[in-house]
Amino acid sequence: MSRPLRAEIRLSALQHNLQQARNAAPSSKVIAVIKANAYGHGMQLVAHALNEADAFAVASIEEAINLREAGVHQSIILLEGFFDTDDLLLLQAYSLEPVIHSLHQLEMLEQTSLTYAFDVWLKIDTGMHRLGFSPMECKSVYERLKECDAVETIHAMTHFSSADDQESLTTPYQISLFKKTIEEAGITSTVSLANSAGILGFPDSHADWIRPGIMLYGASPFVDTDIESLSLQPAMNLVSELISVRDVMRGESVGYGGEWICPETMPVGVIACGYGDGYPRHAAEGTPVLVNGQRVPLIGRVSMDMIAVDLRGCDAKVGDRVLLWGDELPADEVAQHAETIAYELFCNIAPRVPRIEIK
Ligand SMILES: Cc1ncc(COP(=O)(O)O)c(C=O)c1O
Repeated sequence: MSRPLRAEIRLSALQHNLQQARNAAPSSKVIAVIKANAYGHGMQLVAHALNEADAFAVASIEEAINLREAGVHQSIILLEGFFDTDDLLLLQAYSLEPVIHSLHQLEMLEQTSLTYAFDVWLKIDTGMHRLGFSPMECKSVYERLKECDAVETIHAMTHFSSADDQESLTTPYQISLFKKTIEEAGITSTVSLANSAGILGFPDSHADWIRPGIMLYGASPFVDTDIESLSLQPAMNLVSELISVRDVMRGESVGYGGEWICPETMPVGVIACGYGDGYPRHAAEGTPVLVNGQRVPLIGRVSMDMIAVDLRGCDAKVGDRVLLWGDELPADEVAQHAETIAYELFCNIAPRVPRIEIK
C-alpha cells in the first residue's frame, strides 16, 4: 500500500468557483490564472476542469507549452512575457500572448524579423511597482508597439497591490489611474484589471477581462472574509491517515526539540504529512487537524514527513482518515495558524503528493 497522503482535487468545486467569478462579473470574459501548477492543484487537471474559461494565464513559457501540448486551445497569456529573443519563436509556434512590461521586451519586439503577429498585453504600473510601464510612459510605448510587425492587437492590463483589504483606498485609486491612462494613451482594445479580490470586492474593476486565481481554488482573497460568506468551495482536500496511535507518559515530550510536554499520560496520533509534503513547518501548536471529522490540535514541531496530534477525547485508531485542510477545515484557517496565506500552502504541495481527481 502506498503512503496515504494525497491531494484530492474536486473538479465540481473548481467549476462552481469559476461560475461564482462569472456571476460576480457577468459582462467580463474570464482569464483563469493557473500558474505555479494551478496554485499546486495540478495545471493540466485544472485546465481541463475549467475548459469553459475564455483564456488561461501562466508565468512561464514552459507552462504554456505544457498546456498547448495537453490540447488547450484557448488564448494563453504569459504574465511575465518573454525573456529573450529566442522565446519569440516559441510564442509564434505555440500561439502565446505575452505581457509586455519593460523597455527591454519592447526593443526585442522592435528588432525581431518575425512577421507573424501575436496579441500582446501592455502592462501598466498603477501602484504595485513591480512590473509595468509608468502611466507617463504608456502613450509612447503604445505608439511604438503599434509600429511592430510582430504585434497584432494591444490589450492593456494592470494589477492591484492591496485589493485583499476592501477598505483600502489604493484600489479605487489604481482603477481610476488605469482608466485615465488608457484614455490618454488612446488605447481602444480590451483591458483587464481584476484579480479575485477585484472581482468580488471592486465591481468598478471588472472591465473586459477578469483574472481570477485564488478564488477558483476555493480560498478567500480577503484578509477578513471566509469562503462560506463568498459561496466558494474548497477545490483541494489534503487527506492522510493516522499511522501511529499510542499513549505517551505524563511529562514526556513529543517531537523535535522536545518543546511539547504531555500534561498527563495521553494518546498521541502521528499523521503521514510533514513539511517535505508542503505542510507548513511554522504551523503553531494548536493548529486544527480533522481526525474522523473531529478537530484535534497539532502538538510539537512539524517534521519532514509527519506531524503529531493530541488525541485526548478522540476515539481514533491507526488508518483513520485525517483532513489537513479542505472541506470543514478551510486552508485559510490553517494558513493563519502558520502565519501565512492559503496561496502559499497550495503552491508548496510537493511533487511527491499525488493529486487525485475527484469527479
Ligand atoms: C498579474 C496577475 N493577475 C491575476 C492574478 C490572480 O490573483 P489572485 O490569485 O489573487 O486572484 C495574479 C496572481 O498572482 C497575477 O499575478
